[in-house]
Amino acid sequence: MSSAPIGIFDSGFGGLTVMKDIVSELPQYDYLYLGDNARSPYGTRSFETIYHYTLECVKYLFDQNCHLVILACNTASAKALRTIQQKDLPTINPNRRVLGVIRPTAEVIGNYSQTGHVGILGTSGTVNSQSYVMEIKKQFPELTVYQEACPMWVPLVENQEFDSDGADYFVKQHIDNILSQSKEIDTLLLACTHYPLLIDKMKQFVRDDITILSQGEIVAQSLADYLNRHPEIAENCSQNRTRRFLTTDSTEDFDAHANVFWGNNITSEFIEL
Ligand code: DGL
Repeated sequence: MSSAPIGIFDSGFGGLTVMKDIVSELPQYDYLYLGDNARSPYGTRSFETIYHYTLECVKYLFDQNCHLVILACNTASAKALRTIQQKDLPTINPNRRVLGVIRPTAEVIGNYSQTGHVGILGTSGTVNSQSYVMEIKKQFPELTVYQEACPMWVPLVENQEFDSDGADYFVKQHIDNILSQSKEIDTLLLACTHYPLLIDKMKQFVRDDITILSQGEIVAQSLADYLNRHPEIAENCSQNRTRRFLTTDSTEDFDAHANVFWGNNITSEFIEL
């Protein structure tokens, strides 16, 4: 069988936190990661720009023979996924699939909350799209959802400043903002794949009884279920346990920084879109 990896896309490094859990859940498959580091962050950009960039990256992954692409980026999932699924896929190739990270997370978030009050921390793009509010309402209509946009968090993570004094200031600011919306919030969702790198900082400012939820394992479990339910998609994905990493920016920079997200050293390849 020729290589047909599962494509994993993010604006930068953040998707590696999701890919790590996917690879650990489904190690048998081939994976091709694409980080659009040259144009990251996406979170503060317009709908048109995020859609255009994401579609370009998805098409690139399709050209590399990815039959299934995961948008391991909440911003791209919020702003571009639906249009790509409904408008573009039928003309590009109706047999290919693109999945996001918002729906699988919304499907389980209610299981983590006792009080029924959950907080969503995301980029401005994700928060303004209201995607989580709408998806969670469909799955758990009884939940009350609070949101907070944290526009500085992705730049802090992308610039390896997640452990600095600057991070203290911006992490505390947004944690205080969301928790001040309701005393009953008992679950905070990291609705951005970059944010798990800030989790230790967050714990300094969050009460012990509040659960901080990362998406990686949730998305990985959901993908495993999806492939079980869709053997016609699973059989198009090759299984030789290869992992390749592509970046639209400097490979030196990618390789120097990616290990904190991935847990191991990475040798990336440069691509021009
Ligand atoms: N990892 C992306 C997300 O999950 C970050 C978005 C950005 O590039 O701002 O939203």
